[in-house]
Amino acid sequence: MTPIIQALDHYTAQGRARWHTPGHKGRFSLPYLVSEWDVTEVRELTPKSIGMDVIRQSEDLMAESFGVLKSRYSVQGATLPVMAAVMAASPPRSRVVVDRIAHQSVHSALVLGNLEPVWAYSSQGPGAYPLPVDDKERARLIMESRPQAVVVTNPTYEGLSAPLVETHRVCRELNIALIVDEAHGTHFFGHEGFPATALIQGADLVCHGAHKTEVSLTQTGILHINTSAGWIPRVQEAWDMLATSSPSYLLLASLDYLQYLRHHDNYHQSWNSLAKNMRKMWHTWENEGLFILQSWWERQGGQADPAKLTVVGDGQRLLDAMEPFGVEEKSDPLGVTLIVTPQDDTEVIARALEHCARTCSGGRLIGERRRLWPHARQVVSPYTAWHAEREWVPLSLASNRIAARSLIPYPPGIPIVVPGERIDSDVILWLEENRAWYPRRTGDLRGVEKAFDPLSPGRGEEGLWVVKEAVS
Ligand SMILES: Cc1ncc(COP(=O)(O)O)c(C=O)c1O
Repeated sequence: MTPIIQALDHYTAQGRARWHTPGHKGRFSLPYLVSEWDVTEVRELTPKSIGMDVIRQSEDLMAESFGVLKSRYSVQGATLPVMAAVMAASPPRSRVVVDRIAHQSVHSALVLGNLEPVWAYSSQGPGAYPLPVDDKERARLIMESRPQAVVVTNPTYEGLSAPLVETHRVCRELNIALIVDEAHGTHFFGHEGFPATALIQGADLVCHGAHKTEVSLTQTGILHINTSAGWIPRVQEAWDMLATSSPSYLLLASLDYLQYLRHHDNYHQSWNSLAKNMRKMWHTWENEGLFILQSWWERQGGQADPAKLTVVGDGQRLLDAMEPFGVEEKSDPLGVTLIVTPQDDTEVIARALEHCARTCSGGRLIGERRRLWPHARQVVSPYTAWHAEREWVPLSLASNRIAARSLIPYPPGIPIVVPGERIDSDVILWLEENRAWYPRRTGDLRGVEKAFDPLSPGRGEEGLWVVKEAVS
């Protein structure tokens, strides 16, 4: 039996469009996929003793293409850059202003680094999707709390972006490290019609999840360093602590190829054309009654990523309508999000949207406006709660208890609850409305566990891990 190979065979045989990561969509010829190139560090490849380091050379070319001081290649997605950046910029027990809609990788770094988050909350847009944190509000929070570092998530998973002007200004004024998780925006720099990248807005460290939209292989990421501040050597130290010691040269070669493309005009043209085509598509299908989140955000004066297409409405009906044509990146009861890159056939997307407009009658199905990301109150630090003595409680008894573990829907990987937050009625309501969705459809819901019953394993009541009463 080869279950993984069989599953892959089955998936690729369907030949449906892939509106999910990686950005090459299985439609781009990958000249670096050569079995003989599947190696890790060997003396012959990087004879550093004679001053030759091909990885550094390629990283320097990548940095040049992004106009930054340094770029570091990750073979652990955006997760490694994010974690190394957060841990390097903030010593244990320091305060960090963090966008609450941060990905799990940021939340993990807060636990590993024993950091004290000051949350910058998002407001909620149509379909209850989180909007980018307001720049002025974040700046106010920074002024008030004087943190060691600021961790911004921009754009959101749905590609909505906000300026960082005020955030950058106060960080500079107070000499605070500014880290931007731009995992979904590797393709922003140098292209017309895309949101402004944090790289040109003065961020110190910018994390890219290259594989999400680019042609490099799954699991590739980049950390861009745009400062020579005194704490920067700690980035390498944190990186070395967290990174594999056996990087795949296939993944590294795919990043090398990406930097090569980035030095060529036709690569950039393909992104510029995509932005124009997708905006036309947004407007066409809006006129046919679909609600396109990105277009709505631009009408509010925001910047949206044309490589994301979120149709807001009845998630199940939209999913049913799209199913014959392709596979989405993310869905939930209030909508479906696609990732679209220059490798996609936009004709197929148009056909899928036409089907949505025809079959999801009622047109603008915004759905019930439940708060998607509850604002549970942080009672103790994530580190304290994660290390505290814990107990499992059934969902019916979880309200008002302090979470010991995160509750995370995947995708998008943004925790509904993090360790140390008090589970409130909004969280329980969110679970009631959403918990069936993730395991049955496109993903996974981590943190909800069944009680272990040896007589009927896997069939017990569902519950959460909470901090033991005596400690709470
Ligand atoms: C905003 C954000 N940051 C970081 C990550 C982690 O990226 P990766 O899966 O490439 O490690 C993700 C993944 O979805 C993400 O959405």
